[in-house]
Amino acid sequence: MISFHNVTKKFDSHLVLDSVSFSIENNEFVVLTGASGAGKSTVIALLIGAGKPTHGSVEVDGMHVSDMDSGTLQQYRRKIGVVYQDYKLLGKKTVFENVAFAMEACNESDELIHERVPQVLEKVGLLHFQDKFPDQLSGGEKQRLAIARALVHKPRLIIADEPTGNLDEENVRGIVDLLSNLHAEGATVLLTTHDPFVRELVKGRHLTLEDGKIS
Ligand SMILES: Nc1ncnc2c1ncn2[C@@H]1O[C@H](COP(=O)(O)OP(=O)(O)OP(=O)(O)O)[C@@H](O)[C@H]1O
Ligand SMILES: [Mg+2]
Repeated sequence: MISFHNVTKKFDSHLVLDSVSFSIENNEFVVLTGASGAGKSTVIALLIGAGKPTHGSVEVDGMHVSDMDSGTLQQYRRKIGVVYQDYKLLGKKTVFENVAFAMEACNESDELIHERVPQVLEKVGLLHFQDKFPDQLSGGEKQRLAIARALVHKPRLIIADEPTGNLDEENVRGIVDLLSNLHAEGATVLLTTHDPFVRELVKGRHLTLEDGKIS
């Protein structure tokens, strides 16, 4: 489904990925571990077409991500649920509106929005908080809201970049359980973390990013 072929990524002279190759099959749960600054978010940016490799190619279902025109890229991103490291929540919108906004941006009907948003909020255990604002939520709840928003388009691929960053053990378990349930329902999941505890919790394939190489 996903394959990186000899991907090199440099920022000016800083080599972050050094001819990296790996692939992820449908319905795998893959954990990508690496120290802070190792290049985990860079891998994700290349995967979602938010940056281009300096050399090499990133393919998803046989399509080269860096060759997609803007329309194709938009369609492609719709099918991926991305949970960003910094959440990217909208502070002036409620929990409900944060999720609804992801659907409005894709011109979904009000009817579908009012059907789908409560479903995904229920799934992450936040339905009772639908009228709260992000700054009224704990870190774990914000993370679950970010996951809910990533689920609105029923993605086959869920990418979670360091989703357990500042959470305590109980909340970390909650997030890993949630992603594991989505995996069990058929999604392909790619999770990045610097945390060995998270790595141990996930019963998936483990990849490690170190000195620009993946093993
Ligand atoms: N747009 C950019 N311009 C220049 N350098 C960048 C850019 N994005 C990332 N880098 C550099 O690339 C390296 C890898 O960054 P990246 O964000 O991928 O690391 P990470 O593994 O996600 O780290 P963390 O665990 O802290 O999130 C870092 O040294 C970073 O400073
Ligand atoms: Mg990162």
